[in-house]
Amino acid sequence: MGTADDELGRVIPGRFSSGPAADVLIGRTEVAQRVGALGEELADLFRDERPPVLVGVLKGSFLFLADLIRAMDIDVVVDFMAISSYSQSGVVRIVKDLDEDIRGRHIVIVEDIVDTGLTLNYLRKTLLQREVASLRAVTLLDKVARRIIPVPLELSAFEIPDVFVVGYGLDFQGLYRNTADILAVRDLARLAADPRLLVTQLFGFKGEGR
Ligand code: IMP
Repeated sequence: MGTADDELGRVIPGRFSSGPAADVLIGRTEVAQRVGALGEELADLFRDERPPVLVGVLKGSFLFLADLIRAMDIDVVVDFMAISSYSQSGVVRIVKDLDEDIRGRHIVIVEDIVDTGLTLNYLRKTLLQREVASLRAVTLLDKVARRIIPVPLELSAFEIPDVFVVGYGLDFQGLYRNTADILAVRDLARLAADPRLLVTQLFGFKGEGR
């Protein structure tokens, strides 16, 4: 969101020329720089400790986690959890639990985005019940204006405004995880009506779809 990135301000037009459908919110160069710095910061916290367990929250965090740990010059353990939430009730449940026994371990929850805070709040409560040595959370994106629950968040790469974002792991209906830039969708209703709206412009062809 700075100005040094030549990808910034690039506009992704819709398939039909009724105005741009998404903008580059955070370009790949800025993402790489910030995630790299965050990885170094995180490594410093655990340099003299037992290796931390980084818990990636599937699926959105997988690219962030991959880049984050490559910037960490310490020994780490990686595990994953998948959770589902029911948007109307706010009820969250575990779909895939950890493989590791985390008792006595230093835990870092790795999130793609903290929005209402419901997911992170649930994860924190759940993991704290497992007698961990310490618990921190790191997120790629923090939509702080949308918070319903004031949940602790120790580290975040970028604070963003209340816009719907896709790319760099984040999806809309399973699409768009594989862009290097983080994109802000201009009109979510338009994308909801045509979920593949951005496909042609991003990837050059419409393809078969799903
Ligand atoms: P929460 O509201 O903080 O519980 O966030 C729940 C989940 O909503 C996140 O982990 C994301 O998967 C999803 N989410 C929230 N905002 C966005 C967005 O702008 N783009 C894509 N996914 C989002």
